[in-house]
Amino acid sequence: MNYPYVTEFRQSLVEWFNAEKRDLPWRHTTDPYKIWVSEVMLQQTRVDTVIPYYNRFMESFPTLDLLAEAPQDYLLKHWEGLGYYSRVRNLQAGAREVLENYGGVVPDNRHEISKLKGVGPYTAGAILSIAYNKPEHAVDGNVMRVLSRVLDIHDDIALPKTKKIFEVAVEELIDPNHASSFNQGLMELGALICTPTSPKCLLCPVREYCTAFNEGEPEKLPVKSKKIKMKHLTYEVLICEDVNGKFLMEQRPEEGLLAKLWQFPMIDTSQSSIENFTKEYPLEGQAKQELISFKHVFSHLTWHLNSYYMKCETATMGNWLTPEQIERLPMPVPMLKIWEEVKKQIIGK
Ligand code: ADE
Repeated sequence: MNYPYVTEFRQSLVEWFNAEKRDLPWRHTTDPYKIWVSEVMLQQTRVDTVIPYYNRFMESFPTLDLLAEAPQDYLLKHWEGLGYYSRVRNLQAGAREVLENYGGVVPDNRHEISKLKGVGPYTAGAILSIAYNKPEHAVDGNVMRVLSRVLDIHDDIALPKTKKIFEVAVEELIDPNHASSFNQGLMELGALICTPTSPKCLLCPVREYCTAFNEGEPEKLPVKSKKIKMKHLTYEVLICEDVNGKFLMEQRPEEGLLAKLWQFPMIDTSQSSIENFTKEYPLEGQAKQELISFKHVFSHLTWHLNSYYMKCETATMGNWLTPEQIERLPMPVPMLKIWEEVKKQIIGK
């Protein structure tokens, strides 16, 4: 790297962060367990969304031991609505590994911390720098955007191999004495000033040392190739209520999208039909009542859901649950939306 302003850049960034940083709940601690939880939540999720989840999580699981022994549905319920649910299952698996292999102390070096379930290069660097003040890189999308502009890096950030270029750059740039403020400063700059569109360069503490600002077109960076195409799936969702006021629910498989969350039976209309489904369940009458239809967008998948309510005879198979039991189960957001509609249109009557 041929960047002449290393000293000035470090000092301006660290001073700016210490003066201007937002007051966020995870910034009141250096407990590596809490930093770990916050960083896992913050992957793919906005700060404003994370704050109430983080606070609730810390009320229920204030220590790594309590997280390690939490029952799975209870734990998932704390993540309900945050998405990417494998994050919290990996987090718990990682916490158990810390108890078993490291006496309950989160490792303070990249080699050991990276062995923990769910801890990739970013999370490792974030915990090491923020909790232990170690000069380790923590490169996410925000940091790549900031540094692509400062250092005039034109590599495509959509390609996995590009991240290494930025990690090497941070290794050279990072302030060895203020690693925590330096890394958080880069994140904060990306969130508040060096935004994808209309960056607020006039407020930027490092604009003097920024190549893209000096050349006049910061918005042209980073280079990012197009995303893969969105896939669409259409489902009928069937709300079956038996004569005892119980509802049929199923748990999603152990792996894949929304793993282990609970849902009302979903029928992929490109593969089957509601009529085939109803043959498997001894239903009375079979008059189905339309509830709501809507779409739910995941990162590269859209669900088009049409939901129906049906009165059913009690079947021996399946999980027939009371509304109180349903409320305690972790459900995907679109299922919560349907459940709210069931309460309004069916149970409320
Ligand atoms: N995004 C990722 N990590 C963050 C942090 N520690 N504070 C604010 N935003 C973040």
